[in-house]
Amino acid sequence: MGAHVTGVCSTKNLEMVRSLGADQVIDYTREDFAQNGQKYDLIFQLGGTHSPSHCRRALTPKGRLVLSSGDSDGRWLGPLDRIIKAAILSPFVSQALVSLSTRRSQKDLDHLRDLIEAGKLITVIDRTYPLHEVPEAVHYVEKGHTSGKVVITG
Ligand SMILES: NC(=O)c1ccc[n+]([C@@H]2O[C@H](COP(=O)([O-])OP(=O)(O)OC[C@H]3O[C@@H](n4cnc5c(N)ncnc54)[C@H](OP(=O)(O)O)[C@@H]3O)[C@@H](O)[C@H]2O)c1
Repeated sequence: MGAHVTGVCSTKNLEMVRSLGADQVIDYTREDFAQNGQKYDLIFQLGGTHSPSHCRRALTPKGRLVLSSGDSDGRWLGPLDRIIKAAILSPFVSQALVSLSTRRSQKDLDHLRDLIEAGKLITVIDRTYPLHEVPEAVHYVEKGHTSGKVVITG
């Protein structure tokens, strides 16, 4: 869609994220994307536990932070802590700090299917498990370090 994309991931996923088309990749185990002086128009927090005020440092004055990560740093409220902080802070700053909740929509699914069929959306499958190994699959996903999706075969 024409955006210049920076991906943030751990060392083992650097090449994979690059291969998916990221223009730049930051290894979060070595560098904090919010403290390297770079500014972004949009930050999509898919993983991690950085607070909205921390992420805001890396936003342009009219930038937007979209919170989607369900990761928790052990605090009582879990990811809700970031959502509440963003809602409180957002009216007082020039940037938009919002949370994302997925909603099923036929239109969106049709669009995704079109992108997949056109080869523009690539799904990375980390592992597949047969149905009788669902507990092992869930255990693997629960560790939170997959490199892509985990699929159950019928
Ligand atoms: N908002 C919503 O409606 C919604 C819906 C579904 C899921 N989610 C959230 O979306 C996220 C992804 O879901 P998923 O099912 O793909 O999770 P997943 O299978 O557990 O994968 C998480 C990935 O994030 C990486 N990661 C962990 N910490 C990171 C960090 N600080 N920066 C960058 N990458 C990091 C992990 O690899 P490494 O540990 O090796 O880095 C792993 O590859 C989860 O946080 C989930 O809670 C939100």
